[in-house]
Amino acid sequence: MGVLSVVLRSRRAATVPALALGALVLSACSGSSLGQSSGGGSGGEIKVGLLVPLSGVYAPLGQDMRNGFQLYLDQHGGKLGGRSVKVVTADEGEGPQTGVPAAQKLVTQDQSSVVVGVVNSATALGLRDFFTESKKPLIVANAGADAITGSGKSEYIWRTSFANGKVGAPLGSAVAKEVDGSVYLIAADYAAGREMVAGFRKTFEAAGGKVAGEKYTPFGKTQDFQPYLSGIRGSGAKAVYGFYAGAEAVSFVKQYKQFGLADKTALYGTGFLTEGGVLDAQGQAAVGVKTSLHYSTEIDTPRNKQFVADYRKAFQKAPTVYTVQAYDAAAVLDKALANTKNSDGTELIKAFAGVGTIDSPRGQWSFDSNHDAQQKYYLREVRSSGGTTVNAVIRELG
Ligand code: PHB
Repeated sequence: MGVLSVVLRSRRAATVPALALGALVLSACSGSSLGQSSGGGSGGEIKVGLLVPLSGVYAPLGQDMRNGFQLYLDQHGGKLGGRSVKVVTADEGEGPQTGVPAAQKLVTQDQSSVVVGVVNSATALGLRDFFTESKKPLIVANAGADAITGSGKSEYIWRTSFANGKVGAPLGSAVAKEVDGSVYLIAADYAAGREMVAGFRKTFEAAGGKVAGEKYTPFGKTQDFQPYLSGIRGSGAKAVYGFYAGAEAVSFVKQYKQFGLADKTALYGTGFLTEGGVLDAQGQAAVGVKTSLHYSTEIDTPRNKQFVADYRKAFQKAPTVYTVQAYDAAAVLDKALANTKNSDGTELIKAFAGVGTIDSPRGQWSFDSNHDAQQKYYLREVRSSGGTTVNAVIRELG
């Protein structure tokens, strides 16, 4: 638990960023003092509900998202589509038990016109019917649950992040070619972990890869990975592919190294395994870990360099994929609100369909017909650089 508290503490210390007192009004979970912004209607101020984890294993991710949304607002004079914005923030917590009532409050009590955020796939799945039935738009800025933009697609749900199955898929065939032997699959036991493994496994096996074993560890409860690491060693696997994020990713990667597996058994995963504050906390233990993701601070474009510099200036640390996904949600709203005076849910979703290309730090992307981000994925490798570690971009994945 020591590592978790270190990560959480370092993130909490960053909750008073330089730009925080700009145009953005953050009102944590309180709807009573929010003034008179309208929940729908036209013109005037628009109220945006921001639903992110402020507690639990994913709290640092929530902070990154909050910062990303805020940076966009501060860069645009506190306005989206020419309209002043009031942000009401609520705590998603660790899953649907906390996340669903918090979202309902943002809509019914706080009268948000749109909700942005959601880290956990299980929360997103639990919110689908509520947003669809109340005809309010939800812009998912992380949670990758496949069904949300697949079998359970909703007119009211749009996603600026990824579908779980798509993040590991491009890595599967690459690992099958790169590793001479079988691969062990391990992930947090909930929708995201299972879907990130399934996406990888499909392309990995199609390319001739052999699975040495598969294990799902209790989500949010596993701090000691030793029994699972013993299982991996006993399986004779030549490499491991895994999904963990936040505090669990820190523990897993550190213990993988301490257990002596890292030198002989290459570690692969979706990029969340080594992202942002997680990578800082892992330190040298993460060097050599290879991941697939749609973002890295190391993407060598003027757009990304400027973004990283602006973010560093505002928050004194590097941005993350979570930051970018929320920053881009603000960009989507900016474009959509510029095209509609009416912030009624049915009008807003029509405007989302017309936002076109988003010029993001991750590269250009647009919504596909399922409301998911159509984007590139990169193969990244953790390398030491200038006394720290970074996710170096090796190449684009097909
Ligand atoms: C998810 O639950 O969908 C999820 C959570 C954390 C991540 C990625 C996906 O880093």
